[in-house]
Amino acid sequence: MSPRTARPRHYLMCRPAHFTVDYSINPWMDPAKPTDTGTALAQWDQLHALFLRLGHTVELIDPVPGLPDMVFAANGATVVDGKVLGARFRYPERTAEGPAYTDWFRAHGWTQVRDAEHVNEGEGDLLVAGERILAGTGFRTEAAAHAEAERFLGREVVTLRLVDPRYYHLDTALAVLSDTEIMYHPAAFDPASRAVLERLYPDAITAGAQDAQVFGLNAVSDGANVILPEAAVGLAEQLRARGFNPIGVDLTELLRAGGAVKCCTLELRH
Ligand code: ARG
Repeated sequence: MSPRTARPRHYLMCRPAHFTVDYSINPWMDPAKPTDTGTALAQWDQLHALFLRLGHTVELIDPVPGLPDMVFAANGATVVDGKVLGARFRYPERTAEGPAYTDWFRAHGWTQVRDAEHVNEGEGDLLVAGERILAGTGFRTEAAAHAEAERFLGREVVTLRLVDPRYYHLDTALAVLSDTEIMYHPAAFDPASRAVLERLYPDAITAGAQDAQVFGLNAVSDGANVILPEAAVGLAEQLRARGFNPIGVDLTELLRAGGAVKCCTLELRH
């Protein structure tokens, strides 16, 4: 097996300084269960330090008080070829995050920034896979936003329908490993979407219920290293067999809000 090569990435992240769960917009969120901001910060710091150690560049956006889900930077935008498609959130609790992120891009020299017309939750549902974008719908991002993304970002968009409320964003059920490889949890998709994935990615890694439930698919790959929740031991094994270097991290505090590695990480593609 030829060794895989990592490509240095540029990421945007947001420290969970105001992290809490005080509303519920997905089945993982239970405001009755206490959260610990200190634990969330310590776990997030580990992920941030790991990215730097692997040679990636990480920008930080200031967390805004009252926006506890802002730590999930992946939802803030979709960035391809220097073009920034802003997010438009489904639920009022997160609406203000859209402008918070587009303001950051405009203030940091990104000139092609679009305020979205249709509901899209950034890389939560729009995953760049080489020359195409895999796009989720069913719970958050609207199908009309897929057409908007295709027009603005200039890449073919493949629509995939999510059917299990626990996997409400595409990045909770599917991860891009390289330009041509993915891993996913088939049961999270409707039969037509499963057929599309089988046709496009006949050699994909498929994750079972155990690995999916610990958010093993909410992973970030740089082409060689795959950062994923440490509890996803089955997936780590499958990744190793394919020549990837899986690195497990503990983000269990953030999982109380329904997020993990990929949710915390927005890739900036120049
Ligand atoms: N509590 C957030 C929500 O339900 C979690 C977002 C997780 N982000 C992600 N990219 N899947 O919107």
